[in-house]
Amino acid sequence: MRLGILTSGGDCPGLNAVIRGAVLAGALAYDVEFVGFRDGWRGVLDDDVVPLPRAAVRGIAGLGGTMLGTSRTNPLRDGASGAVAESLRRHQVDGLIAIGGEGTLAAAQILSEQGVKIIGVPKTIDNDLGATDYTFGFDTAVQTATEAIDRLRTTGESNHRCMIVEVMGRNAGWIALHAGMASGAHAILIPEHSLSLEQVAAWVNSAYYRGRAPLVVVAEAFVPAGQAAPYSPRGLDTFGRPRLGGIGMLLERLIQELTGIDTRATVLGHIQRGGAPTAFDRVLATRLGMAAAGSAAAGAWGTMVSLRGTDIANVPLAAALGTLKTVPESRFKEAEVLFG
Ligand code: F6P
Repeated sequence: MRLGILTSGGDCPGLNAVIRGAVLAGALAYDVEFVGFRDGWRGVLDDDVVPLPRAAVRGIAGLGGTMLGTSRTNPLRDGASGAVAESLRRHQVDGLIAIGGEGTLAAAQILSEQGVKIIGVPKTIDNDLGATDYTFGFDTAVQTATEAIDRLRTTGESNHRCMIVEVMGRNAGWIALHAGMASGAHAILIPEHSLSLEQVAAWVNSAYYRGRAPLVVVAEAFVPAGQAAPYSPRGLDTFGRPRLGGIGMLLERLIQELTGIDTRATVLGHIQRGGAPTAFDRVLATRLGMAAAGSAAAGAWGTMVSLRGTDIANVPLAAALGTLKTVPESRFKEAEVLFG
């Protein structure tokens, strides 16, 4: 059997480990050979294909980014779905492993209904995909954010300032919640739980007047009470979704106005997506890649590999798409006890 593999959407630490896991398991356990499509669906549509023998994936599990490149090319634009099937035929590819987030998996589901043989591998640092307990890349993003926040704390304490740190999280506040708890933040602001700025200012004041440098961790999609939608001054991305980022800077001004405390904001941005994956993410990504090769060899097309507890499972692609995995209110309430 000959399989294609691609990485699509925003990148994420662990993508190379998935590719390596799939190629090695294919070679050693399933008699499957691989080719890689460069830059996600763009490579499929533009015939940009590279052979992926075992030697090509040597030593890449610990490398950040993706050796195949990625893009936000939408394979369904302008009726391109026929072109996907046609390209796979041309390259004698029997099926495809598509590693991606929400947008990629939704496209994979539609292509699968049209007869393209696809296995999905869920990917996002945001950890917001349904039908899998954790996505690889999340642990690395939390670790990176926590290290950055620890540094911001020492400069904040020296200068008696309030420090605001904006982290990613388009639909869900998982990175903010975990990095905020890990670094002992005095307030964690997530999209699932709107709050008034007066409440945030009260927590900041409470920390400040007990001699601490207040630390606020805010997810990019947090919506302050009274606002209708996340702060998005930078237009739409290629999937038509608002480009987020900047709420931290807005809060810097508003919190300083409300409290009178010297305040500084830092936007961590794409630093959270770069660099080497943690050991946890390397193991998870390797297992998912190996399982994807096994699912293809078994003909389980139209499914996605996922983490259930400590086991790797197969779920229908559709199951991954219905609902986003957001932070439950109980997890926010648990963290809130320590705010202020
Ligand atoms: O979906 C993952 C994510 O990292 C979001 O948290 C963020 O809003 C988005 O990607 C940024 O995407 P881009 O790389 O297109 O700026």
